[in-house]
Amino acid sequence: MQSFRNLPANVIQDQIGDRLQITYLTGPQVSFTPEEDGQDVIAGLTAAQKTLSPKYLYDDRGSELFEQICTLPEYYPTRAEISILSQYAPEIVQITGPCELIELGSGSATKARILLDAYQNLGGSLRYLPIDVSGGALEGSARELLQTYEQLHVHGLVSTYGLALANLPPSLLPFRLIAFLGSSIGNMPPEECQLLLRQITQALEPGEYLLLGADLQKDRAVLEAAYNDRQGVTAAFNKNSLSHLNWRFQADFILDQFQHLSFYNPDRHQIEIYLKSLVDQTVTLKALDLTVKFQAGELILSEVSRKFDLVELQQDLQSLGLKPIQAWTDGDRFYSLLLCQLQG
Ligand SMILES: C[S@@+](CC[C@H](N)C(=O)[O-])C[C@H]1O[C@@H](n2cnc3c(N)ncnc32)[C@H](O)[C@@H]1O
Repeated sequence: MQSFRNLPANVIQDQIGDRLQITYLTGPQVSFTPEEDGQDVIAGLTAAQKTLSPKYLYDDRGSELFEQICTLPEYYPTRAEISILSQYAPEIVQITGPCELIELGSGSATKARILLDAYQNLGGSLRYLPIDVSGGALEGSARELLQTYEQLHVHGLVSTYGLALANLPPSLLPFRLIAFLGSSIGNMPPEECQLLLRQITQALEPGEYLLLGADLQKDRAVLEAAYNDRQGVTAAFNKNSLSHLNWRFQADFILDQFQHLSFYNPDRHQIEIYLKSLVDQTVTLKALDLTVKFQAGELILSEVSRKFDLVELQQDLQSLGLKPIQAWTDGDRFYSLLLCQLQG
């Protein structure tokens, strides 16, 4: 594991009190490695099928919209995952024993609270290491947690998953648990997902744990309703990735000239979310020296959300050395939570 002291010179450390530390691995609000900063946008928007990384859905506004999505009646994944966590967190912490809790894509840290409550009941030190590209969401949620948990120490990394996993600070507790919730693993195509799972295995020591939330395959109508809510929050969330490009790369996307589109692709077992250009138009991203032409009807793929077969997922994890210890599901079997342990 790389030592935290070896971090690059552009790391800014922000010590707030002695229980909160936030490290921005690059920029002030959304943090990407210099190599990938914008290069993925150029590659994605010049490809035959125009594509954007789902990380552009999240800036401070995107994180707020995602929180609203989590409360929508159609959006079952958050409720299902919270119900499983609430029921089984005591069992999870009994299995792992006291652990430093690392969370990839921590967002509002609502689910971390359920695990922190359980670790608190177990006794011992409470340490939480949230990792998120959205600096505002991370800092706000960390400060709220510190008010609730008087013994908690938080060290947040504003970073992409891979960069953070390669730069984890040394753990002060004997064991660590990496939580990767919200089925965010489904937002990656299979190759990227394999890469991230490998990065997780490299960041963990044998005997340490991964707690993975995964949305399961189910009826198409349930899935499509969840990503096409009646209030239009998912549409606003999707379009926010264009606002994000506007501020981040001095672009001139006109949001009203794009439409949210989302449907289930049964061959790939995934929800596909697109932005459809409503007119012929040309967009400029000044900071990237990039001009992109869109035809009316042309689509940008802005996110996929893969839906898993629980048995296959467990086999994939096992093949990477992440032995599934226990899998829990909700009453509808819509969603699963898997606890895996890295084998030596
Ligand atoms: C689907 S939300 C899940 C939030 C929370 N874990 C939950 O379960 O409700 C994904 C979170 O991951 C963050 N995120 C997205 N892509 C990321 C990336 N490549 N690296 C780090 N964080 C990322 C977003 O800012 C957001 O907070």
